Amino acid sequence: STNRTFTMIKPDAVKNGHIGGILDKITSAGFKIVAMKYTQLSKRDAQEFYAVHNERPFFGELVDFMSSGPIVAAILEKDNAVEDFRALIGATNPADAAEGTIRKLYATSIGENAVHGSDSDENAALEGAFHFAGREIF
Ligand code: CMP
Repeated sequence: STNRTFTMIKPDAVKNGHIGGILDKITSAGFKIVAMKYTQLSKRDAQEFYAVHNERPFFGELVDFMSSGPIVAAILEKDNAVEDFRALIGATNPADAAEGTIRKLYATSIGENAVHGSDSDENAALEGAFHFAGREIF
């Protein structure tokens, strides 16, 4: 597997003041930030980013939520990045997330779940390229 993953701190966590706490958890766990920006997705951006989910009943809600306010997007580097980052963030539904995980600490609900983490090396590369030009990755 490759050594990079892609993450977003979602609008709920930004609004609730958790950018610093989440970045601290990420860097304390040994991830290096190789790209990062504070930005907001348009509705169309969110539809494109989440196109894989467009048949799901929650697609409209997901797109509206993810475009509702600013996010932090970042590319992270560590050995076994995709798998280790998914362990750090915890289950999609914070009610099922393990103690100490980012979603257990900071998420509100299954939809407003504080952070995104890529689910495969292939998606990590696609999602990183969606948000960052080569010259923005260090
Ligand atoms: P994530 O895994 O980052 O990407 C897909 C997102 O869809 C997921 O986080 C949740 O935020 C959202 N999602 C998944 N299941 C539901 C659901 N049942 N209701 C609302 N949103 C959901």
